Amino acid sequence: MGHGDFTHSRSKGREKPTIWQADQDVDIEDLTFVIPIIISVVLLSVFLIRKYIRWTVQCPSNNRLDGKTVVITGANTGLGKATAMELAKRGAKVILACRDRKKGDVLARQIRIKTTNEEIYSYHLDMSSLVAIKEFVDDFTSREPFLHILINNAAYLGPKATTEDGYERTFGVNYLGHFYLTYLLQDRLKRCASSRVINVISDSYTKATLDFEDLAMAKYNIYKAYARSKLAMILFTGEAARRWMSSHVLLYGVHPGMVCTDLLRNWPGLTGNILRATSRILFKSPEDGCQTIVYCAVANEIKAQTGKYLENCQLFKVKKTALDKDMAQKLWELSLHLCKLPPEPKTDSEVRSIGKHEVKADGKEEDKKLK
Ligand SMILES: NC(=O)c1ccc[n+]([C@@H]2O[C@H](COP(=O)([O-])OP(=O)(O)OC[C@H]3O[C@@H](n4cnc5c(N)ncnc54)[C@H](OP(=O)(O)O)[C@@H]3O)[C@@H](O)[C@H]2O)c1
Repeated sequence: MGHGDFTHSRSKGREKPTIWQADQDVDIEDLTFVIPIIISVVLLSVFLIRKYIRWTVQCPSNNRLDGKTVVITGANTGLGKATAMELAKRGAKVILACRDRKKGDVLARQIRIKTTNEEIYSYHLDMSSLVAIKEFVDDFTSREPFLHILINNAAYLGPKATTEDGYERTFGVNYLGHFYLTYLLQDRLKRCASSRVINVISDSYTKATLDFEDLAMAKYNIYKAYARSKLAMILFTGEAARRWMSSHVLLYGVHPGMVCTDLLRNWPGLTGNILRATSRILFKSPEDGCQTIVYCAVANEIKAQTGKYLENCQLFKVKKTALDKDMAQKLWELSLHLCKLPPEPKTDSEVRSIGKHEVKADGKEEDKKLK
């Protein structure tokens, strides 16, 4: 008789079925007792992990944004959509910058109806094309006099592909496109100072390396490409904050946590299916995930925190690699080159270091005469 064969044993006067094993009999009644325990432990673990991942600090500020104009990239779904809804409720004029204009129009109508805020508009913006980004900026600046808040949210995560300009797509859409967009909009942001740029980042950056000699990523890996694009966004946040501090353009990097959105839709194969199923069970809702983005858009108390990174409406420290000023400056210069923009000679921080300006922690600038 082999493992798993049934036999019968006498126990307390009555016959019970058992499973025969090499050195012991396992009582079926014992198994019916053990299985519920295993199921309970699994369910409890899932419950606790879910609670941990979904832990969210709701935006503590009730500030409104009446009279303020906000642009959100990738606004037609996920975090962008949830953020648009919340900022519309707070009275902002919201520009939904989407690559699918029809989806943008449908959402604009939905938000107008739900919030009774009529100032919701959709524009075409494809982050994978420098030409399309320039067209968006021209269209936007010709129609809208103000830009108070720019939310760089759109992202691609998927198999290896390139942008229209031939750059690796994850880097191109998630980082370079946003660099170019923000750069072209900087005059409008400076005119509306103090204005805010919110870069949606991800803690995946900790797994990233940024090799300037291998921007095409010869050994492509979906997650590493995504992580690299987010590392670039973090470096960009710090560098732009230093450069534009004296113009009172404030920058923040927001990690929203793990959120159930369409982000994983392009991840192929079994891994993609498992990740999507897991995200539906464990991850936060977009409404919870957008709380820190909303906080950075509205809160007064974070004005002095330009160039910082937040999660759950609190500051968090990023790793040293993401704070490397030389790397950030190199990336800035390379990005200007990739976007065919002219090089810039000086940063605000360089200007400060020779004593022309002194910028205090609260963002106010004091003139200081050269000795
Ligand atoms: N979900 C998470 O767990 C998580 C965690 C950390 C950080 N984030 C970040 O949160 C941000 C929002 O992502 P999400 O989770 O809300 O994902 P999502 O639901 O997939 O939203 C991404 C948005 O980006 C848009 N997009 C993609 N390629 C574009 C392009 N070439 N031009 C213009 N728009 C483009 C998408 O438009 P289409 O619908 O037309 O494709 C979509 O609206 C991203 O920056 C992401 O990296 C997410």
